[in-house]
Amino acid sequence: MVVQIALILAVVVQFIAFGITISLITKTRFNIAWISISVGFLLMALRRVMELIATFSSQAEQSTSHVSSWIAVVISIAMLLAAVYIRKIFLLLDHLQKLREKNETRLLSAVISTEEKERKHFAKELHDGLGPVLSAAKMALSAMDKKELGKFNSQIVTKTEHSINNAIVTTREISNHLNPQVLERYGIEKAINTFLKNIISKDSPEFVLKSNMGELRFNHHFEVIIYRIACELINNTLKYANAKKAVLTIAATADVVHFQYEDDGIGFDQENTEWKGMGLTNIKSRVKSLNGTIDINSQPLHGVAVDIKFPQDKTQILTTQP
Ligand SMILES: Nc1ncnc2c1ncn2[C@@H]1O[C@H](COP(=O)(O)OP(=O)(O)OP(=O)(O)O)[C@@H](O)[C@H]1O
Ligand SMILES: [Mg+2]
Repeated sequence: MVVQIALILAVVVQFIAFGITISLITKTRFNIAWISISVGFLLMALRRVMELIATFSSQAEQSTSHVSSWIAVVISIAMLLAAVYIRKIFLLLDHLQKLREKNETRLLSAVISTEEKERKHFAKELHDGLGPVLSAAKMALSAMDKKELGKFNSQIVTKTEHSINNAIVTTREISNHLNPQVLERYGIEKAINTFLKNIISKDSPEFVLKSNMGELRFNHHFEVIIYRIACELINNTLKYANAKKAVLTIAATADVVHFQYEDDGIGFDQENTEWKGMGLTNIKSRVKSLNGTIDINSQPLHGVAVDIKFPQDKTQILTTQP
């Protein structure tokens, strides 16, 4: 009796499994996998039904055992076929995932380089468009004979000259920030050093740049990415860290460019910080666009440590100046 109940339960479960696998046939490209499993479950249920009948008569038991063995062989073949095709499904999923990641990287790369092109264009417009207009205004004012103007008007002209001078400097600074000339001419190390030299802040921490790059040049896209990342991390240290010291290490080897940044400031809680800004998110996108890896570590009162690795095939060291 117990054996019969178990067999009936097995038949019911196998029919349910059969129904589920039948419904999956149209869901994937490799429907043969689900057809094989369905056939397997159907035959299993059939075998159990035969076993159930055999429990009622010993004569039936003898005649069914032969058929049952062959059904078992067919079930095994169906399951083997299913396993082969399910493996194919997983390989396909893996392939799709890699394709998706590759497309994502390509898209990011395109967005970042379009952004850089726009910055360059804007910088050029400012430098070549607004710059000469301001210089012309400055020259016209300096050509004025101030003695003729009287004290009051002369003061106004002097103040205007001063404002135009400020506007010229600011235009140059904005243009240079959008498209750093030092970076284009002399490479990463010099550009970061220049950025550090231009920091005017009373409470600025000591910044140390350790790099084996010297005058090594890389492809422009990569240089811009490294430069922007360094600037953002340095700016964050200045804005939030209240640090005494920050160290930036860039080591270029044959295989990777290893970029490490550390400050000893107040740090932040990575779990609970509200990421309102775009800085760190942009850094991650920039790294991803070059197939790099990034690890950001920070805890309150324990500073910030950022570790980035770029594969060499994306950085393309150029031995000569571009
Ligand atoms: N060096 C640091 N020391 C302490 N806290 C930091 C540091 N860097 C980042 N943070 C914290 O992480 C948050 C996110 O930084 P992120 O650079 O993404 O944005 P943001 O600097 O606030 O804005 P944005 O970069 O867009 O101007 C910051 O608001 C700050 O709370
Ligand atoms: Mg920031």
